[in-house]
This record gives sequence, C-alpha cells and structure tokens, in this order.
Amino acid sequence: MTKAPLRILQPDTAGLTAGAAILQDGGLVSFPTETVYGLGADACNDRAVAGIYAAKGRPSFNPLIVHLQTQQDAERYAYFNDDASRLAAAFWPGALTLVLPLREQSGISKLVTAGLGTLAIRVPDHPVAQGLLRAFGGPVAAPSANPSGRISPTTAQHVVDGLNDKINAVIDGGACAVGVESTIVSCGDTPTLLRAGGVPIEALEACLGRPLARSENPKTPVAPGQLASHYAPKGTVRLDVVTPRHDEVLLGFGPVDAALNLSPAGDLTEAAARLFDCLHQLDAMGATAIAVSPIPDHGLGRAINDRLRRAAAPRG
Ligand code: TXA
Ligand code: MG
Repeated sequence: MTKAPLRILQPDTAGLTAGAAILQDGGLVSFPTETVYGLGADACNDRAVAGIYAAKGRPSFNPLIVHLQTQQDAERYAYFNDDASRLAAAFWPGALTLVLPLREQSGISKLVTAGLGTLAIRVPDHPVAQGLLRAFGGPVAAPSANPSGRISPTTAQHVVDGLNDKINAVIDGGACAVGVESTIVSCGDTPTLLRAGGVPIEALEACLGRPLARSENPKTPVAPGQLASHYAPKGTVRLDVVTPRHDEVLLGFGPVDAALNLSPAGDLTEAAARLFDCLHQLDAMGATAIAVSPIPDHGLGRAINDRLRRAAAPRG
C-alpha cells in the first residue's frame, strides 16, 4: 500500500473501522495492547507482513506474534495440548504468548513464522486491540511497534517518534497498563519459558502445577527477542547501582534520590508500567550514561530485570 502521511486514529468505532480497512488493504496499523503498542498487519498477507519487517528494520529470521480475539479463533491456526489449554483458559485474554505447533493450511504467511513449524499466539486484553481484531476478523501479526533493537513503545507518541512515515496509522488508546511485553511460553512436551514478561512466572507455574523449563539463553535464540542487546536506549546502561558516578543519570527504584524513578514506592507493577517510558525519557534528556537502582528479581521484577540486562548488554 502506498504510504500517505501517518494517520492518528481515535479508539472509537470510526477509528477501528478505518484501522481494519487499512489492514485489509495490506497496510500497517499500530494499536495499543495492555503490554505495549503492536505494529499490526494481516498475518495471511505476505506483502503486508514483509512491510512489518521493513518498517522495523527487523532481521528476517525473527518470527512474529499473531493476535486473535479468542482461544477458539486461535485453535484454527495451531494445536493446543493440555498445558496450552490450561494456560489459555487461565491467562487469556492477557499478557501471555503461547508458542504452539502450527496447523497445516493455516494460511498464515511463512514470513510470520520465519519458516518455523510453530506459531506464537496471543489474545490481548485491551478493548482497542479486541475492537480492531473484531473489525478486521482475522489473525493480525504484530511485533512491538518500535524500530528493531530500540525501546518498546507504551504510548502512541512513542510509535510516532520511532516509526512515523514508515507506517499507515496508529490508533491512540493512551498509555499501556502493563508496560512490558507478554511472557512467552512454548508448549511442546515440556512447557518452556522463552521470555519473562507481563504474566509472572510464579502464576504460570501455579497454574501448571509444575516448574517451567527455562530457555532464556541468548546463545540459542529460539525466540530471537532473547538476543542479548535489545531494548537499548542511546546511553550506556549500568545495573544494580546504589551510588551513581557523577556522569551518570540515575534511574531509581524505591525511595532514592534519582533523576527519574520507576516507582518511588518500590512497587513492581508500577515500575513495569513506567519502564519503557522512562527509557524513552532518558533518550529525550540526552542521557549518555545511565545507572539503574537494584530491582528485586521476583514477579514482574524478573521481566523488568530481563529487559534492563538486554539494555545493558554490549551493543552488537
Ligand atoms: O506483548 C507482546 O508480546 C507484544 C504485543 C504487541 O503483543 N509483542 C511483542 O512482539 O513483543 P515482538 O515481536 O517484539 O516479540 C515477539 C517475540 C520475539 O522474540 C520472537 O522471536 C518470538 O516472540 N517468537 C515469535 N514466534 C515465535 C516462535 N514460533 N517460536 C519462538 N519464538 C517466537
Ligand atoms: Mg519487540
């Protein structure tokens, strides 16, 4: 689809109808989910999906998450075993992505799965995402709506700043409540954690009644979101800092004296919701050296620390 200037759509019936029409035409529409803003395209249209990779400047081996309205819809595209059904029943709609065996003749573009025999699916819990999926009526492939390797967007303005004329429209649904991406679990013989995220691991393990296997190892990028340097702000990042150096801007957590604070009250949910916005703000401030307060490594803290470790990794 030829690119007119980026349209900012309202999260009402007219905006959702316009967004769905752009998707039907093979265009790119960014939309809010409860985790981060997604960059959506018709998952069955090769050209449209190729447009996502082009707009993000994303390496082509990196597969995409498909968004659907319900688990019933999801079952048309992938096979659910008992673990998958249990997790979907407990956490969908929500911040959980399941990697499942792809059905033959699913019609999903091979560019979505990057040729893998599995499909990552999520049913988002956000009225605007749900409204767009209903208006469009099919699977929507959507990675986070940021240039590849940059910070994920949690407001429509972040999307405009990062992708602007590379996409057709963004539906402005305000700030994302969860603020970190979905937790990714692959449901083969052994359910395996591929990425920590918006649903705490403890909750998943309680639902399954056993521990998840772990595959968060950057050397084997089953989910290439596991690549070490990712989510990077422009400045260098140093973690677990109690006393910052003079040249560093402190990103605080808890009751500390900091330029920016993820949560002065030390609340992990608030910190997750503010994480990417704070990183964007540090870019806007021109911070060249960023120090981050220690953050407890449980619940949503795990997802926050995972993102921060990638931000701090040596840049490739
Ligand atoms: O919260 C989220 O998950 C957001 C919103 C928009 O839904 N989306 C998101 O997508 O974070 P993205 O593309 O930035 O991250 C998706 C991750 C990538 O690391 C990708 O490699 C992995 O999911 N992935 C996708 N399909 C996969 C598959 N078949 N097997 C393993 N990993 C897969
Ligand atoms: Mg991403």
